[in-house]
Amino acid sequence: MIRAIRGMRDLLPPETGRWQQVEQVAREVFGLYGYREMRLPLLERTELFARSIGADTDIVAKEMYTFTDRHGDSVTLRPEATAQVVRAFLENGLAKSAGVKKYYLIGPMFRYERPQKGRYRQFHQINCEAFGSDAPELDAEVILLLLDILGRLGLSQLRLLVNSLGCPLCQVDFKGELKRFLFAKEGWCPDCQRRRAVNALRVFDCKSVHCQALLEGAPTLKGSLCPDCAGHYTRVLNLLDRFGVAYEEQPRLVRGLDYYTRTAFEVQAAGLGAQDAVAGGGRYNGLAKELGGPDLPGIGFAIGQDRLMEVLPAAAAPEREALVFIAALGTAALERGFALLQELRRAGLRALMDFDQRSLKSQLSLADRLGAAVAVILGDQELAAGEAQVKWLAEGRQERLELAGLTGSLAGRLRA
Ligand code: HAM
Repeated sequence: MIRAIRGMRDLLPPETGRWQQVEQVAREVFGLYGYREMRLPLLERTELFARSIGADTDIVAKEMYTFTDRHGDSVTLRPEATAQVVRAFLENGLAKSAGVKKYYLIGPMFRYERPQKGRYRQFHQINCEAFGSDAPELDAEVILLLLDILGRLGLSQLRLLVNSLGCPLCQVDFKGELKRFLFAKEGWCPDCQRRRAVNALRVFDCKSVHCQALLEGAPTLKGSLCPDCAGHYTRVLNLLDRFGVAYEEQPRLVRGLDYYTRTAFEVQAAGLGAQDAVAGGGRYNGLAKELGGPDLPGIGFAIGQDRLMEVLPAAAAPEREALVFIAALGTAALERGFALLQELRRAGLRALMDFDQRSLKSQLSLADRLGAAVAVILGDQELAAGEAQVKWLAEGRQERLELAGLTGSLAGRLRA
């Protein structure tokens, strides 16, 4: 038997029903905040990710699914969506319209990571991106939107971590200071020895406990922020305070992607173990320009949907669905039942039947297993009388109803 690729999961019903509900809630909340959907290709030119995420990040250096297509071009399965949303935004001339431009995107991403609980090679993100404003109000609104989605899904025990990464000018100063700190100590892992020379900020991402201990006493970005960036950060935090949002300042939060400027944030959820970040995001004011567009600020986040599903409160016991099951006995009943099936669906009712002419007992037990609310039983006798036996499965109550008008009567009762 051929099996699925390691780190890639089949999502099956009834789980897919819960995924749909979550996406529905996210879509509704995005709508309230003025976001509209983008659906973009899974494959992009490799260069797009290398240029935006950063060549020294784990994602670009180790985790991308990159291959050469038949034309000889290097293409990559998207490891994240921000870079491609910016690409699509620029390519389709959307930067020209006035005001803040807001988009969401829901779909699979691909990273060749070591699979474990909450970490997959194909995973799913609910992504939010807004362009055209550097106002701290937008930062606060984006964080409120994220918490709104998570709150409506019933998530509690969340930790919101916030930091400011400043602008490139603040970062030049800070990276110099950090480099001096990193070179004054020995014992860094081989990755960090390289990182401290080429991209010092990435040392903060190191998973090694030893490197994290060595980082004790490292300088923080907050101390290097220019007056503008410091003012921006203070205003974002004040707005979060004003809306009663609990947050923790996390001076070493740099996120695993190089494009971030100013506000960066992450939401951690209890119960996820080592992979506890359920969402992350921040500003990326330089990204549009880096990708050949105008100097247009941007901010966004992505929720890891796989992790979100794991911490979602347990679903309430499923109720019997407003589903009609038609049990037909004999060829004539099958014929009439099939017509009734389509009639019910046209009236907006979920309806099913089994075409294999099984016994009444097995058809009724199938109806029960499917959680149907009602079974409509049709046999020769019923057809001759122009009636059907209608069995309400939860109560076990049975009644005879006229076939003409049956659809209307079931629709009335099931929708009541
Ligand atoms: P990220 O932090 O790399 O950010 O990913 C966002 C979320 O995706 C993580 O917090 C996590 O929940 C989920 N995630 C990441 N990798 C995996 C994995 N291998 N398996 C399961 N879940 C995973 C970004 O991707 C940015 N593009 C977010 C953003 C949007 N920033 C601005 N706009």
